[in-house]
Amino acid sequence: MPANQSIPHEKTLDSSLALLNEGYLFITNRCRELDSDLFQTRLLGEKVVCMKGPESAKLFYDPERFQRKGAAPKRIQKTLFGQNAIQTMDGKAHQHRKLLFMSLMNPARVELLKILIRQEWQHKFGAWKQGRVVLFEEAQDVLCRAACAWSGVPLKEEEVRERAKDFGDMVDAFGAVGMRHWNGRRARRRAEAWIREIIGQVREGKLTAEEGTALHAIASHRDLEGNMLDTEMASIELINVLRPIVANATFIAFGALAMHDYPETLLNLRTGDEAYKEQFVQEVRRFYPFGPFLGARVNSDFTWAGHEFEEGDLVLLDLYGTNHDERVWENPNEFKPERFKEWAGSPFDFIPQGGGDAYTGHRCPGEGVTIEALKVTFDLLANEVEYNVPDDQDLSVSLVRMPSLPESGFIIEQVKPRS
Ligand code: HEM
Repeated sequence: MPANQSIPHEKTLDSSLALLNEGYLFITNRCRELDSDLFQTRLLGEKVVCMKGPESAKLFYDPERFQRKGAAPKRIQKTLFGQNAIQTMDGKAHQHRKLLFMSLMNPARVELLKILIRQEWQHKFGAWKQGRVVLFEEAQDVLCRAACAWSGVPLKEEEVRERAKDFGDMVDAFGAVGMRHWNGRRARRRAEAWIREIIGQVREGKLTAEEGTALHAIASHRDLEGNMLDTEMASIELINVLRPIVANATFIAFGALAMHDYPETLLNLRTGDEAYKEQFVQEVRRFYPFGPFLGARVNSDFTWAGHEFEEGDLVLLDLYGTNHDERVWENPNEFKPERFKEWAGSPFDFIPQGGGDAYTGHRCPGEGVTIEALKVTFDLLANEVEYNVPDDQDLSVSLVRMPSLPESGFIIEQVKPRS
């Protein structure tokens, strides 16, 4: 019997172009056509199994069956992740590295980051006066300052925009070919050189890293063999803290768009109902397109629900499609924060930042930080300021361009304190 006979096959030689044309809906569209949660196709000439839905997510996060080694393409490692970093590790070595990240997320440290983000926004509000600003870029700057201060990384005033943009360009490269990809590589090279220098200064005693900061933890981290990370790897992992904090600018632009498009949500955010604030944040993370899918490789042959998986197969898990699965989410294409009142909290049905367990698996260690950063920001935008959203901008959200964003970056004007 040919391998994977029971997995529905897409009848095409290669789907790479279709993926570029359909973006976030590529996997969902085929699951619908084939009436299956999984299907086999070819991308860039390679056999790939694509899956969506909570059951598929549960399978994907089984470390006995899947590994990350060899899953992330070099082009993603040279832009988004950094080469050979935590995203590509498995087993005990991965868990040990993961504890390093989780140790930064204790309640006192998360509280400090919230305070820093609040201060940076308040500083911005004062500086904006009445002119027009692109909220996405302003949020990148706010988060870059806060992330660096929180992590113990010195940042000069005049370098804020360049550093923030570099972190943004690494993220902007993940679904890109051509210019955007090369911008992402350049941005990573610049950022790694900058952070390598800082790690070197700490290790040579020329810069003091305060205990509890990411700079201190990463500069002094030892692997399971007792060796320090080389400066290159240390800089990559510190960037794996800074870059994703700045990436919250995308969710901030989407959240502002939600307040604009669904004005009842803005009114609800103004009632002071804390539970609603969290529901709003969760719905922003579920509804809008950011992370499209994740990849892993089959460890060794196995059969699951009658489907045969072969050692080495590349498997993609659809994050966006799982967050819009109509079996889990009623009217998934409606923006409705209240749905989270009812949500039972499965680790596999709501996976904007990955699924499973953050300590033992690859789930994002920064999910709590993300939720808190967004809560603070939306609270400020709803309750401390008023602004006008000019009509002469393109607020459309593409489901083809990856990563997506409101096209104009969400321009606001006439920002003033809320009376
Ligand atoms: C914009 C908000 C964020 C999004 C959309 C996001 C998304 C994700 C996703 C989809 C993964 C992959 C999960 C997997 O491979 O199974 C991930 C992993 C990761 N994230 Fe986040 N993340 C965000 C914020 C953060 C923050 C704030 C931090 C750190 C402060 C962070 C650090 C990481 C790290 C280190 C990993 C690799 C974990 C591992 O491989 O074990 N992320 N994130």
